[in-house]
Amino acid sequence: MRKRNHLQITTSLPGPKARRLIKKDNKFISKSHAKEYPLVVKRAKGAIVEDVDGNKFLDFTSGVAVCGTGHCHPEVVSVITKQAKELLHMTGADFYNPLQIQLAEKLSNISPGPKPKRTFFGNSGTEAVEAAFKLSRYHTKRHMVIAFLNSFHGRSMGALSLTASKVTQRKRFHPLIPGVIHVPYAYCYRCYYGLKRENCDLYCVKWIKEELFKTLVAPEEIAAIFVEPIQGEGGYIVPPREFHEEIYKLTKEYDILYVSDEVQAGMGRTGKMFASTHFGIKPDIITVAKGIASGMPLSATIAHEKIMDWERGTHASTFGGNPVSCAAALTTIKLLEGGLIDNAARTGKYLIKRLSELQNTYEIIGDVRGLGLMIGIELVKNRETKERAVKERDALIQGNFKRGLLLLECGRSVIRFIPPLNINKEQIDTALAIFEETLSESEKKKL
Ligand SMILES: Cc1ncc(COP(=O)(O)O)c(C=O)c1O
Repeated sequence: MRKRNHLQITTSLPGPKARRLIKKDNKFISKSHAKEYPLVVKRAKGAIVEDVDGNKFLDFTSGVAVCGTGHCHPEVVSVITKQAKELLHMTGADFYNPLQIQLAEKLSNISPGPKPKRTFFGNSGTEAVEAAFKLSRYHTKRHMVIAFLNSFHGRSMGALSLTASKVTQRKRFHPLIPGVIHVPYAYCYRCYYGLKRENCDLYCVKWIKEELFKTLVAPEEIAAIFVEPIQGEGGYIVPPREFHEEIYKLTKEYDILYVSDEVQAGMGRTGKMFASTHFGIKPDIITVAKGIASGMPLSATIAHEKIMDWERGTHASTFGGNPVSCAAALTTIKLLEGGLIDNAARTGKYLIKRLSELQNTYEIIGDVRGLGLMIGIELVKNRETKERAVKERDALIQGNFKRGLLLLECGRSVIRFIPPLNINKEQIDTALAIFEETLSESEKKKL
């Protein structure tokens, strides 16, 4: 039995109850999900997740960057309970709802760029992106869009057409929506053009202007550029500030909409409410979901009233903007503004510093990057060749799970660290002690 602070692993993993449930899951649930390890969750509180066999884990996944306020934050649970007793559903597609109105006004006030803004509510990230895609075509009357290689924008047909991070996500789903052009992102650790940041002169942006717009498509035909401020599923890639600035300039030059997909990076995760603010961008459209309502399904597509100019009946959702989710979102935002964003900025710096120290000791850590508590480490077999350490990454994630630390992969050989935004230093130290133990064991195995 392993015990450390509030963690305890008392069975083999998966434990007996988990094994039985996984067997049933395999029978009855769609197999399309990429489950990372055999964790069957019963309850969770703060940063601690308990499985059905009573094992307790430290959660550095936040349910994929969703539970920013920590699992089951008492204030969030309390407003959800209260709202559930009052009204569960009456659809924003046909009726008016005070909580939706209040939340939309709040989002208008806090999101970057000129006001007033309108919000379209959906239930998931992919719906937010789908709405942004449709809105950008509707508003501009143009039909082409640009997205980036390695990006992830969701899995419904429109959003999937923008997504380009793993081929399995697209394979056998073609033909996708026509009119999407993918271009290289500023993944400077592995520059698509083989250049070094010191003297690249942002060739990746120049290429769009000097080559793409001269050979393949006229800029006047582009409705929008979809940008993740930090690429999430693609590997937690933080581009240089100037990359975003130059892309933004390009959109202004040609009246193209700048769509900031902040489904993963938004809602305080990076140490600012909206990640685009780090780069001085005022996006024309912003999409958020995941962290907006502490685990309740909700997404928002936010745009200036002049951009969100579609007419009655053009787009709607039965469930989008559910009153319980909106209540949870209003409290989530209050908690984020009340200290969690600051905590993310502060503890994120500490976590990056500690991971960089590990990088000095462990050759396998090729790159440490992130903003706030959106942090990734890229694992390589060799720092010179940067050959990706894929198997080693997968083994590390499994090893940490066995020791009680929940982590997730992203990109091709990246591990992400995305704890709840109210994580404290002691919990970070515990996580890193487990992580280092696993790292050092895997190094020993190699010898
Ligand atoms: C940037 C981004 N956009 C969109 C999505 C899709 O969100 P959902 O899974 O809620 O549909 C994700 C999910 O990871 C994401 O990271």
